[in-house]
Amino acid sequence: MKNIVVLVSGGGTNLQALIDAQHSGKITGGAITCVISSNPNAYALERAAKNGIATEVIRRKDFASFDEYDTALTELLKKKQADLVVLAGFMTILGKRVIQAFENRIINIHPALIPSFCGEGYYGLRVHEEALKKGVKVTGATAHFVNEICDGGPIIIQRAVEIKSGDTPEILQRRVMEQAEWHILPQAVNLFCNDKIKVIGNTTEILE
Ligand code: GAR
Repeated sequence: MKNIVVLVSGGGTNLQALIDAQHSGKITGGAITCVISSNPNAYALERAAKNGIATEVIRRKDFASFDEYDTALTELLKKKQADLVVLAGFMTILGKRVIQAFENRIINIHPALIPSFCGEGYYGLRVHEEALKKGVKVTGATAHFVNEICDGGPIIIQRAVEIKSGDTPEILQRRVMEQAEWHILPQAVNLFCNDKIKVIGNTTEILE
C-alpha cells in the first residue's frame, strides 16, 4: 500500500473526492495517511479529522527564508513516508528541494486545460475569470505531475467542460469541479498507486 499525503489550503472538496474514492474502492493500492495544510483554518483539515486522517500545518510565513520552508516541507513529507504527494488546492508554490526529492511522485490538479490558463498567478477563481474574459467555449481540468516549471510537468489526465452563456467565475468553477476535477484527480491517484503511469520525458503513457 502506498502512503498518500495530501496538501491543501482551503475548502478541500478535492480532498473529499479522494476520501470518497478511497471509501468506495475507486482508489486501490494506496491510502491517505496524512493531510498537510498551509492554512490552519482550512476546512479541509476538518474533513481529514472527521475521517480519522492525521493532520499537520506548515506555513511559509513561519520560516525566515523560502529555502528553510522548502527544507522543512521536504523533511515533513519524508517523516510521513509519503510515496505520493497530492496537491489538492494547495496554494503555496513548491521549492526545488521538495520537487527533486519527490520527482514524478507529486500530482497536482489544475482547474483548466493546460497549457491554457496556467502558470504563475493562475490559481483558484482567477483561472476561471481569465477563461471567461478570453471567451473560450471549452475549459476543463488537468491532473499532472509537478516539476520545476509551474504547471509544466507531465500531463496524466485531462477532461473538458463546456462554458455556458451566463456563466460567472463561481458557476464555472463549480462545474469544472463537479464534471472534471473530482473525477480525474482520484483516477490519476489510482493509476499512480497501481503503477499504471509511465513517464516518458515530459509526457506520460497510461498502461492498460
Ligand atoms: C480547485 O479548483 C483546484 O483545482 C484549484 O483550487 C481549487 C481548490 O478547491 N487549484 C489551483 O488553482 C492550483 N493552481 P478545493 O480546496 O475545494 O479542493
